[in-house]
Amino acid sequence: MHEQAAPLYPHHLATLRERADQALALGGFDHLLVAAGTPLRKFLDDQDYPFIANPHFRHWLPLDGAPGSWVAYTPGAKPKLVFVQPRDYWHVVPEAPRGYWVEHFDIVTVRSAAEAVAQLPAGSCAVIAPACPGIDGVEVNNPPAVLDYLHWYRSYKTPYELALMREASRIGTRAHRAAEAAFRAGRSEFGIHLTYLAAARQTDAELPYASIVALNEHGAVLHYTRFDRIPPHESRSFLIDAGASAAGYASDITRTYAAPHAAEFQALIDSLDAAQQGFVAKVRAGQSYPELHIHAHHVIAGVLREHGFIRMSAESAVESGVSSAFFPHGLGHPIGLQVHDVAGFQQSERGGSIARPNGHPYLRMTRVLEAGMVVTIEPGLYFIDMLLAELRNQPLAADIDWAKVDAFRQYGGIRIEDDVVCTDGAPENLTRDAFALS
Ligand code: GLY
Ligand code: MN
Ligand code: MN
Repeated sequence: MHEQAAPLYPHHLATLRERADQALALGGFDHLLVAAGTPLRKFLDDQDYPFIANPHFRHWLPLDGAPGSWVAYTPGAKPKLVFVQPRDYWHVVPEAPRGYWVEHFDIVTVRSAAEAVAQLPAGSCAVIAPACPGIDGVEVNNPPAVLDYLHWYRSYKTPYELALMREASRIGTRAHRAAEAAFRAGRSEFGIHLTYLAAARQTDAELPYASIVALNEHGAVLHYTRFDRIPPHESRSFLIDAGASAAGYASDITRTYAAPHAAEFQALIDSLDAAQQGFVAKVRAGQSYPELHIHAHHVIAGVLREHGFIRMSAESAVESGVSSAFFPHGLGHPIGLQVHDVAGFQQSERGGSIARPNGHPYLRMTRVLEAGMVVTIEPGLYFIDMLLAELRNQPLAADIDWAKVDAFRQYGGIRIEDDVVCTDGAPENLTRDAFALS
């Protein structure tokens, strides 16, 4: 497992240690303590929500099934893993640590989260931990100076992280291929979803986010996760936004397909696909991401005009907000340990926030792109009843071909999403590279 990433791990760990040294110095702390966390319990129940380890913990090592465990790091010393392996015959007990990363840690195995706490160093500690049961006795402080510094540098992926993100993309694209075949075979949303999981060999809880599997009009619901159990009378279009995980790293992939008889919708997909590839080509060091988002609005307005949905110029469609009725979300976001990764708005390693451009409330990335960042590029074009109803009351409504718009409601919408690495030269498209192999 993780064959390509494993040899890169020592460099990754050295990078994390350097970053931790700087963050601790900035915050004035002697030790960094990072909790995996413990599962959250459902209200008035004896069942837990699926456990997902703290992303800072997963940054240090590829271990996401060890609740109660901690990484403790003191500058100059080998990092320590306090590993919780309970005596328990009700649940699967986490296996003893093994693999390429183990030799780089001093590992202490204990039987409970409370025992783990007793193994942590005393003194001045930056403690990065979520609010969760069972870690009483540690003063969780999540110091902003330390977090700001670590979050800022999480934006710059190490070669190890990029190798894992390539793997997450390969798993995701393999499952996307299976899902497309299930759509073409006339399966229900639920059936396609199960096909996706089987091909990814991941459970719902292991995926980095809830899959969006939408046939026909459902493509217009941006986060459609209901899954009809019965196939529609006719499958005209299919939008799938689904990712996969590799050692805690995410892929986030969207594709939209038309049935063979829906040539008019296929033509629109082709135009948006060409536009999307143009945006991907601009993922270069020095490119402002919000400017790329605004550029995408102009290009999408041009697509709307070219296909006869609007008669006004692309400029006036963007200025008047018409393009936002068809493309009402952000162009994309940083991705890594979390599907919507940290620091998309951060101003510097000392924190601060860069505002979104006016009129674009859902953009999740306002920084200038630099080598090592990974972002999604996910333009969309939808026929959303609520937003179209608002548009109909605007003065510019006369410049819209409503019969044409209405004819496309049956397809829901289009989104095409790739995960793209900004480099010192041409961008690396993790998603398209992985599709080419799958
Ligand atoms: N699937 C969530 C997103 O695309 O941001
Ligand atoms: Mn996304
Ligand atoms: Mn997505």
